[in-house]
Amino acid sequence: MVGLPARGKSLIAGKIVRYLKWLSVTARIFNVGSYRRNDNPHPDANFFDVNNTAGEQARRAAAEAAVADMIKWFSNKKNKVGILDATNSTKARRKWIYEKITEAKLLHIFIESKCDDESIIMHNILDVKTTSPDYVGQDPEKAAQDFRDRIKNYEKVYESLDESEKDYSYVKVTNVGHQVVINRIQDYLSSRIVYYLTNLHIKPRSIWLSRHGESEYNVLKLIGGDSNLSPRGEEYAKILPELLIKSGIPKDQKVVVWTSTLLRTNQTARHVVEQLGFRKLEWKALDEIDGGICDGYTYRQIAEKWPEDFAARDSDKYHYRYPGGESYADVVARLEPIIMELEREENVIIVTHQAILRCIYAYFNETPSDESPWQKIPLHTLIKLTPRAYGSKKEEFPANIPAVSTYRAKGEVEEEAGDKPAE
Ligand code: SIN
Repeated sequence: MVGLPARGKSLIAGKIVRYLKWLSVTARIFNVGSYRRNDNPHPDANFFDVNNTAGEQARRAAAEAAVADMIKWFSNKKNKVGILDATNSTKARRKWIYEKITEAKLLHIFIESKCDDESIIMHNILDVKTTSPDYVGQDPEKAAQDFRDRIKNYEKVYESLDESEKDYSYVKVTNVGHQVVINRIQDYLSSRIVYYLTNLHIKPRSIWLSRHGESEYNVLKLIGGDSNLSPRGEEYAKILPELLIKSGIPKDQKVVVWTSTLLRTNQTARHVVEQLGFRKLEWKALDEIDGGICDGYTYRQIAEKWPEDFAARDSDKYHYRYPGGESYADVVARLEPIIMELEREENVIIVTHQAILRCIYAYFNETPSDESPWQKIPLHTLIKLTPRAYGSKKEEFPANIPAVSTYRAKGEVEEEAGDKPAE
């Protein structure tokens, strides 16, 4: 990373790591500030003055320790992307990093975060003074002033990436996604990271997630298919506009509704579109996981007909692929464009299916892949996610309309008890 303090570097680094881990790419942040804090837990702004030789030496030592650990971490071939989260604000520092990285036969990409929008900078300063370990227990106003002085010290020596560094791979992001300049991007993973960065924004917004209402197949415990909603599912569809209003859906901002191409999600979103007037988009990528030859059977029937497959799925549900169908890993791969579009969009309501929501939720929640296929996402419950600087706030709005449970625990051949449909 490259950039002055309070330019969202850690936020961007955190998002990249979350995105890569979701794609099963092992990634880790090496934060130079954390190394420096081992010896200097609460330095004031003078520590960051260019003329402070002791401060300069301590900061250099922290950077050296972080780079050494990062290079060591790469000796495990499973580890793919390391992010050196620091200001790296001079050409001399970047040259040193480039040489160290190249000597270790690793590829590099410098990601500079620039920001001339005062409101974003102020927001970040506010965030730092309340959350940074550097200012724990200090008066927030004094902390903010000291942090501003620290930034001024960095500004004295700051050099943005420019023509003289044209041999490096780099991407310069201004005002988080507003303008992106790229130079010599040479490999696939770097190009995915750059594309991801071009989609980011930090405007406040929320994302609403809902499964379709209970379907006729759900009632019969059958997986897959393309059935209609059950009467109770219809009830949920009718109440969904009211539930969205209760959860604070903005009526004066742009909101889009995304569904899969299947009947049950379109029927569930119908009243939302009609009553609230939101634009609806159907995505094939949001269709339920393809159960292949198991589509249209109950879990009990699958366990009896294909016991080996049933056991294999339980032992590694994320990677198990239904014969002729998909695995959760396949679903994540097909959801990548959805995540990109979701990063680019503002308020979005997604009405889709159990496995799909598990994968989307895993992205926001950083759920490890061995846990994500076992997450509980109940029917008839609206989830509101509000992205924050670090992580997302999750709120649940149950509709209080009974539904069967479609959750099957590991080792079981039946779903857990839900509410039986009325006779
Ligand atoms: C720090 O010590 O907080 C960060 C050092 C740097 O990135 O300049």
